[in-house]
Amino acid sequence: MDTTTRPTAYNYQVVRQFAVMTVVWGILGMGLGVFIAAQLVWPQLNFDLPWTSFGRLRPLHTNLVIFAFGGCALFGTSLYVVQRTCQVRLISDRLAAFTFWGWQAVLVGAVVSLPLGFTTSKEYAELEWPLAILLAVVWAAYAVLFFGTIMRRKTKHIYVANWFYGAFILVTAMLHVVNHMALPVSLFKSYSAYSGATDAMIQWWYGHNAVGFILTTGFLGMMYYFVPKQAERPVYSYRLSIVHFWALITLYIWAGPHHLHYTALPDWAQSLGMVMSIILLVPSWGGMINGMMTLSGAWHKLRSDPILRFLVVSLAFYGMSTFEGPMMAIKTVNALSHYTDWTIGHVHSGALGWVAMITIGSTYHMLPKAFGRERMHSIALINAHFWLASVGTVMYITAMWVNGITQGLMWRAINDDGTLTYSFVEAVQASHHGYMVRLAGGAIFASGMLLMAWNTWRTIRGADPQQAAEAARIEPAGVRP
Ligand code: HEM
Ligand code: HEM
Repeated sequence: MDTTTRPTAYNYQVVRQFAVMTVVWGILGMGLGVFIAAQLVWPQLNFDLPWTSFGRLRPLHTNLVIFAFGGCALFGTSLYVVQRTCQVRLISDRLAAFTFWGWQAVLVGAVVSLPLGFTTSKEYAELEWPLAILLAVVWAAYAVLFFGTIMRRKTKHIYVANWFYGAFILVTAMLHVVNHMALPVSLFKSYSAYSGATDAMIQWWYGHNAVGFILTTGFLGMMYYFVPKQAERPVYSYRLSIVHFWALITLYIWAGPHHLHYTALPDWAQSLGMVMSIILLVPSWGGMINGMMTLSGAWHKLRSDPILRFLVVSLAFYGMSTFEGPMMAIKTVNALSHYTDWTIGHVHSGALGWVAMITIGSTYHMLPKAFGRERMHSIALINAHFWLASVGTVMYITAMWVNGITQGLMWRAINDDGTLTYSFVEAVQASHHGYMVRLAGGAIFASGMLLMAWNTWRTIRGADPQQAAEAARIEPAGVRP
């Protein structure tokens, strides 16, 4: 494009839309999490209705927190970061609008179809084929938008955050298409193209890499932009970021079989998954250390900056869950942890501690900027949110660790004559207090999201369209994050 006709402003419209929906879906997804946590304390809350039963609402919770809350955060931040680091506007406003509205349509489809019981029954890939196709089309539009913008960049090199976002976009597309291969038999029902152990292997190759490339790689992209920005320091080591990028994406793809220990999957595949998972600790910690060390010389800012606190604590939880994961992948440890609440604790130390906290911190940084404001309406409310999120996460995961180990030990306890010491129901009864603590922790975490909604509303209400237009102006070339 001729430089005289180049747009002079970033497209912040789509960034604003995704940022607001991150907060909205966050409240709905986590609110539903609190509700299903309450169902595990008081089963009467299933109301004896099929569409309010735990079995149908649980996948709705996972879809809303991962694809709606996490998804909108990834779309919004990636489209913000790619424009600012490439110093160009997105290649097409129409494609951006299609990506936003198309994604919301997929999510509304999930909200309607999952409680009605339409599901492929594959975890994290439950959406039936019409929605899966729509999702693929929207994803393709997003990929064109993102990579097209990178190709039009005015900067010489591609900033590392875009590497992570790029890998997340490409691999997610591959996982989605391969795992969703199915034969439709009606508008609402399809059967997987794979069967038996192959089906299980493909599903957990998908499931684990959904964790690896959506919940990890995508959010590391976020980390590489927002941590240096908020700390006002350069990334600790650019070289380490490239090395751990390649190591992470090379290793993750092999670790899926750790979800299928002691199953019909060939033994060699299980052992391969275990070994690859243990090695995965190294690049994971490479990323965590790179993020933490970026604060060198800026640690004092933690005293006064709750946004930075969100970002740093998220890295601490990232480090913790990527230590715990490899340990759980060891077959003998997995023999105790599998099927128990320990897995749920691990999931939420990653989900609340890492994914949600990095999202919340990044959104607090980005949202006011996209609306042309210096900062969020209330820093005190961000601070209160930080404490609610931290206390809620710790309560949630410690309750699940205690429950998980209790359940594992009770299930395997055997009397001298070889009979089981405890019945299954006794293990459920022993979990009751842990479920109450988890419910309280989850409710505390979710209440923090309400503070965020209020703060967001006040920030937007105070926005001035002229300042917003000014803030969206593309800076002169050479200004780097
Ligand atoms: C207020 C916050 C939250 C609460 C109270 C909550 C609660 C729950 C509950 C009760 C379950 C079902 C556990 C079981 O079957 O025993 C669950 C599952 C799950 N949640 Fe959450 N959740 C919250 C936030 C999140 C967030 C933010 C994410 C992701 C970013 C997330 C991801 C998941 C996943 C992936 C599962 C399925 C785990 C598995 O199958 O092993 N949750 N959650
Ligand atoms: C080096 C990194 C990691 C490794 C090796 C790892 C390993 C594991 C293992 C062994 C399990 C239990 C499988 C089972 O017994 O069924 C598991 C479950 C899970 N992990 Fe991780 N983990 C890692 C990091 C993370 C992170 C950062 C998250 C982010 C949220 C996460 C999310 C999950 C989820 C959602 C599940 C539950 C899957 C399911 O059964 O539905 N993991 N992980």
